[in-house]
Amino acid sequence: MPLSQALGATHLAVDLGTSSTRMRGPRGASFDGASALAVDTRSGKVVAVGDAAKCMAGRTPPAIETIAPIRRGVITDFDAATRLLWHALGRQHRGRMRSWLPPRVVAGVPAQATEVQRRAVEEAFQFAGARSVHLLPKATLAAIGAGVPVWDATGTMVVDIGAGTTEVAAFAFGNMVAAASTPVAGDAFGAALGGHLQREHTLALSAEAAEAAKISLSLAAAAGQDACLPVRGRDRISDLPKTAIMSVGELMPVVAPEIKKIAATVAGVIAHCPASVADDIVGRGLVLTGGGALLGGLAEQLGRTVGMAIHLVDSPLTTVVDGAVRCVADSAPSGEQPLLAPM
Ligand SMILES: Nc1ncnc2c1ncn2[C@@H]1O[C@H](COP(=O)(O)OP(=O)(O)OP(=O)(O)O)[C@@H](O)[C@H]1O
Ligand SMILES: [Mg+2]
Repeated sequence: MPLSQALGATHLAVDLGTSSTRMRGPRGASFDGASALAVDTRSGKVVAVGDAAKCMAGRTPPAIETIAPIRRGVITDFDAATRLLWHALGRQHRGRMRSWLPPRVVAGVPAQATEVQRRAVEEAFQFAGARSVHLLPKATLAAIGAGVPVWDATGTMVVDIGAGTTEVAAFAFGNMVAAASTPVAGDAFGAALGGHLQREHTLALSAEAAEAAKISLSLAAAAGQDACLPVRGRDRISDLPKTAIMSVGELMPVVAPEIKKIAATVAGVIAHCPASVADDIVGRGLVLTGGGALLGGLAEQLGRTVGMAIHLVDSPLTTVVDGAVRCVADSAPSGEQPLLAPM
C-alpha cells in the first residue's frame, strides 16, 4: 500500500459536468447530482444543491436564484462552482482534507479548454478544500473508463456526448493524436425539440419541459415503441395551457441536423489523424459515451451519417468518472506517461 494511502490521504475522482457532477471517494459515490445550486439572494445562503436545486429551476420565488455554474463543460460562474464543490466534497472529506496530507483530486476538463478555464477548475477545487488537483481531458478519462485500448498501436476514437459539449478524441500509443469539441450535445437536442414543438405544434415550452419531453420520447424510441406521447405546455398564440401529441418517430428528424454537426466534428478529427490511425478508426468504429448518447436512435443515426460502426458503452453517464477512478487507482502501467501527464 502506498504511504499516502496508509496515512489516510483522500483520493477523489470527479466528473464536473454541465448537467451532473459525479464524485467517487474511497467508499464509492460521494456525490452524484445535478451541477446546480439554489441561492437565497437576500442572505447569500445556499438553500439547495444538486438535484434538489435543479428541481427548483424555473419555479423559485424571486428571492431564490438557481445557478448552473458549468456551461459547455467549463466553469462559467466561479463562485457558484466553488460552493457546489464545497457541498459535494462534504464534511467527511473536508475533515480529512484539512489534514496535512494533501488529497488527490483527478478531474476531467474539455481537451480544448483554455489555460484560464483549466485554472478556474483547479482553483475551484482548491477553494472548496482540495489541495492537489490533477486535470486530464474528459475524452481521455472516457476512453479509460470505457476500457478502450488506448495504449495499443491501433488507433481508436471516443465520442463523449454530454449535455453541453461533445468531446471527440483519437488515441494511439497512449497519446491523444487529435481532438475537437462541439457545443452540440444533449442540451442542443432538447433545444431542437423545443424549437420544433414551437414551430409545428405552436407549443411554448421551458427548457426544463423540453428536456423532460426529450427524455420521454427518447425512452420510448429506445424501447422500440412507435407511440404518441402528450407534451404539455402553453399555446404560443392563445397563451393558454395546451397539450400537443407528438409521435416518437418525429424525434429523430428533429435531432438529425444536430447529429450531423457531431458527425462533422468526428470527420474533422479523423482528418487531423495520421493516415494509418485514421484507417484504424474507420475500421474499428467509434466508442460512444456520455448521457447524450442515450438518446433513442442516436447511435444508429450517427453510425449511418459517419458510415462507421458505433459501440455504445454500458454505462455512458458514468464513463468519465469511472475513468477518473481508474486513474486514482493508478491502474495505468508504468511507462505510459503521455496520456496521463497533467494538462
Ligand atoms: N435516456 C436518455 N435519453 C436521452 N438523453 C438522455 C438520457 N439520459 C440522459 N440524457 C441526456 O444526457 C445528458 C447528460 O449527460 P452527461 O451526464 O454525460 O452530461 P455532462 O457530463 O453533465 O455534460 P458535459 O459532459 O457536456 O459537461 C443530458 O443532456 C440528458 O438529457
Ligand atoms: Mg460529461
